[in-house]
Amino acid sequence: MSHGIVVGIITVSDRASAGEYEDHGGPAVREACGEYGWKVEAEAVIPDDLEQIQRTIRAFSSQGCGLILTTGGTGVDLRDVTPEAIRGIMRVEIPGFGETMRMRSLEITPNAILSRSLAAMVDRSLVIALPGKPSGALECLSFVAGAIPHSVKLAIGEPTSC
Ligand code: MTE
Repeated sequence: MSHGIVVGIITVSDRASAGEYEDHGGPAVREACGEYGWKVEAEAVIPDDLEQIQRTIRAFSSQGCGLILTTGGTGVDLRDVTPEAIRGIMRVEIPGFGETMRMRSLEITPNAILSRSLAAMVDRSLVIALPGKPSGALECLSFVAGAIPHSVKLAIGEPTSC
């Protein structure tokens, strides 16, 4: 039984959430999800606030998003707390996602080393933290997209072949 992949997208940005600039990351990720054939059912633009990130992830998970993509807050600015927020509520981290995103991104820009992007299982969802720059978010998503269907099945507890 397959329900397809249901996605929640969270833009994590103080300035975008305050309306200081338009959010381009969320819409770019939404469009990419459409191209992968996934269904986006929840979207939010929130500040770089640890508890708000955790609350939003949990709310999206409980409303049935098997895949939750965050964009932003993975760097080393004083306000960047997305990895800490995810690690504070995850069951397990899946290091291969972060390793792959950084390794492949380094072929594009040396600055990719600054992203602490990661993936983890939280409640019944696969959560992937992508960098904030729209092109970087899409690049990173493309590097791990092949592993997403199987990982989401495991997250939501659907039977798999392994
Ligand atoms: N990864 C890819 N593939 N392409 C990029 O342009 N930008 C980097 C990095 N990862 C980038 C990338 C930069 S400049 C930063 S500062 C970090 O992601 C962290 O970004 P964030 O804090 O907005 O999440």
